[in-house]
Amino acid sequence: MTTSAAAPASLDVDVVVIAARAGKDGPELVAHPDLAGLLPALTAVGLTGKADELVRLPSIEGSRASLAVVGLGAELTADTARRAAGAAIRQLAGTGSVALALGLDDESHVHAMVEGAMLAAYSFTDYRAKTASKVKAPVAAVTVCTQASVPDAALERIRVITDHVALVRDLTNRSGGDLYPQSFADAATEAAKGAPVTVEVWDEKKLAAEGCGGIIGIGQGSSRPPRLVKVSYAPAGATKHVGLVGKGITYDTGGISVKPADAMNGMQNDMGGAAVLLGLILTAARLGLPVRLTAYLCMAENLISSTAIRVNDILTMRGGTTVEVMNTDAEGRLVMADGMVLASEENPDAIIDVATLTGAAIVSLGRRTVGVMGDDELAGAVVAAGRETGEPHWHMPLPEELRSQLDSRFADMTNLKPGNRDGGMLVAGIFLREFVGTRADGSTIPWAHLDIAGAAVNEGPAYGYLDAGATGVSVRTLLTVLEKHFV
Ligand code: BES
Ligand code: MN
Ligand code: ZN
Repeated sequence: MTTSAAAPASLDVDVVVIAARAGKDGPELVAHPDLAGLLPALTAVGLTGKADELVRLPSIEGSRASLAVVGLGAELTADTARRAAGAAIRQLAGTGSVALALGLDDESHVHAMVEGAMLAAYSFTDYRAKTASKVKAPVAAVTVCTQASVPDAALERIRVITDHVALVRDLTNRSGGDLYPQSFADAATEAAKGAPVTVEVWDEKKLAAEGCGGIIGIGQGSSRPPRLVKVSYAPAGATKHVGLVGKGITYDTGGISVKPADAMNGMQNDMGGAAVLLGLILTAARLGLPVRLTAYLCMAENLISSTAIRVNDILTMRGGTTVEVMNTDAEGRLVMADGMVLASEENPDAIIDVATLTGAAIVSLGRRTVGVMGDDELAGAVVAAGRETGEPHWHMPLPEELRSQLDSRFADMTNLKPGNRDGGMLVAGIFLREFVGTRADGSTIPWAHLDIAGAAVNEGPAYGYLDAGATGVSVRTLLTVLEKHFV
């Protein structure tokens, strides 16, 4: 990626992309007044200027470069710039070099445009053999034409962020047969190489010795034992400490409370929360963000076997709370409970957890919006940050009356009330809240819970900078939260 103040016509590229807005009376070109005469022709071939639209004009024989017009939608904002750049780069896959001459010179628009282009230049081909050559390669070289000056450091920063979003997407897209707790831990260790962090991997013996009954309980049904990966970043100069807890279920069959066949499809992505937090902590570390972070990535495979937990088994979580398992498919909250207690033990300034926790998140918010629960102020900060990054996050309540769904006859609590699906996403949040630590002065640690079950994966079709598959949602938003509120 390079930026250039040169006129697009003087650049040696395969495709030059300009932008059109969807105006009230039809499409309007952004900048490039010299090309306004083209508008009737562009309208005739279908240009409207709406988001995700890309109209390509063929090049004249013998000439290399061709022209494309990307839609920006009704208004120009940093987010529409990010999406338009992404939509262009994504749809131009297979092209060697592209100049983005969208006519944007405002610094925030240009940064967003660079980010959208980098996010869109992603493809996941790890499992392709025969058809690899048919998959169009992401655009290799992008030149952003702008009057704004984009310092190398700014480009590098965006590169670090988008590289880690790609890491999250790569990990999340891997199959459950290939990514299991130990191999996920190995991948985390590998990804952390060279970053100023320490990585500790707890095996099943250590997990048992440390009293992590939730992770052990869910992991015991698989021949591939559970792991907890603790990643610590403690830069000099940090004044605040944030604990991070991620759900890392590398495959979720539902366990003995087995999922119906169709509902199991996609459950290799159930480690997406842990991947997001791995990406977040490595991004912060590589950018040198002055905030201390400790991530607990809770990894297990929720399988069915003679060693799997049963319904009505009672697990003792880290810290001693007992939980009667009413449904082994509500496993995420069980592994997360241990992580929440571990994070709380260090008495951080805040805890943020990320999990593909409930199908109810999809029912209530659809597949593009992350549900955010917990401390009102911190949840509000996450929602506000999501507006800046173009990742929709929405604040949901934790209504007190739902707590009684978790009452148990014999244990301290259950993991759900059988047959009751009321507020499923919220009940899961209320369950996690029980494991957020209390301070010496009686106050609870500020905490935000992100349910990314809907938004972690784009089920297709492609839009903006996103192809089908894992999205890496919330990495950029949480980085913004850290930068705004914890440094
Ligand atoms: N991993 C699932 C949640 C999920 C569903 C994520 C669909 C992504 C897509 C979670 O472990 C689960 O099975 N939740 C149950 C909870 C229920 C048993 C209370 C669900 O949503 O059905
Ligand atoms: Mn489940
Ligand atoms: Zn799950």
